[in-house]
Amino acid sequence: MRWVVVGAAGMLGRDVVARLRTGDDEVVELDRAGLDITSPQACAAAVAGADVVVNCAAYTAVDDAETHEAEAFTTNAVGPATLARAAADAGARLVQISTDYVFDGTATTPYDEDAPKAPRGAYGRTKAAGEWAVAASGGDHLVVRTAWLYGAHGACFPRTIARAARERGSLQVVDDQRGQPTWTVDVADVVVRLVEARAPRGTYHATSSGETTWCGFAREVVAAAGLDPQVVAPTTSDAYVRPAPRPAYSGLGHGARGAVGVEPIGDWRDRWAAAAAAVLGEER
Ligand SMILES: NC(=O)c1ccc[n+]([C@@H]2O[C@H](COP(=O)([O-])OP(=O)(O)OC[C@H]3O[C@@H](n4cnc5c(N)ncnc54)[C@H](OP(=O)(O)O)[C@@H]3O)[C@@H](O)[C@H]2O)c1
Repeated sequence: MRWVVVGAAGMLGRDVVARLRTGDDEVVELDRAGLDITSPQACAAAVAGADVVVNCAAYTAVDDAETHEAEAFTTNAVGPATLARAAADAGARLVQISTDYVFDGTATTPYDEDAPKAPRGAYGRTKAAGEWAVAASGGDHLVVRTAWLYGAHGACFPRTIARAARERGSLQVVDDQRGQPTWTVDVADVVVRLVEARAPRGTYHATSSGETTWCGFAREVVAAAGLDPQVVAPTTSDAYVRPAPRPAYSGLGHGARGAVGVEPIGDWRDRWAAAAAAVLGEER
């Protein structure tokens, strides 16, 4: 099989490429300089001959999107639409990566794959539009939503927290937003397994199981960095206002993935234990 990974220099993209390179399939990795997903001509050329295209490219600056929504829309909606058209014309399957931010965050139990989308901020609106555009292309596609991502190849919550705890000695982290911390390595594995399982076109969720708050996760991170978890004190979203609204609840349900026989990722705490050394690196 020939895979084309787009947005291959991003935090998730790098681990998707690494996962694919453990197998015998052909892998083409395209960073932003190699393919701008908003260019129809470039997309057509990039996906020619591909069996599967994985779109890890996105505008991911959640707060900046509030004041640059048109720019975010271009990357997160026009880009996937353009790539989906090219993939459909080439007869390739497109895997579009999406996010919990398409939901309103008011649930108290995990969102099913077909739960109504009601994004509360610009980033979520543009990602929801990207999901719609991929489905509307009529081509073969999987939408794979994930959330609370961390990885070794990008700025992420665990490294930020470990550094802050070491430098400042104490810090406050919100304790009223719940979600499923998820390692990019695990999302990459689910993406590959869904394709290998010939999962029917549609939407799937790729997050760890179990739940915690950002404060709960920060305490695990600090412990893994060899510091006292009690240096992390809880605070509230009201005390830590940011430009974009954050979902109070980000849990994603895994029914569709289970139905096609793809193994669960596992509990967030166990996966963090497996990931910590690689993700924290010198912050450890
Ligand atoms: N990080 C999270 O917590 C999280 C949570 C849920 C879902 N997701 C989703 O997971 C996916 C991967 O996210 P990530 O964290 O790996 O993001 P990332 O590290 O920001 O990577 C995104 C990549 O896309 C590239 N890109 C931006 N615009 C492009 C364009 N027009 N054409 C081609 N490439 C372009 C970026 O290049 P430049 O750096 O040069 O701009 C960057 O390398 C995204 O779909 C995101 O929405 C992320």
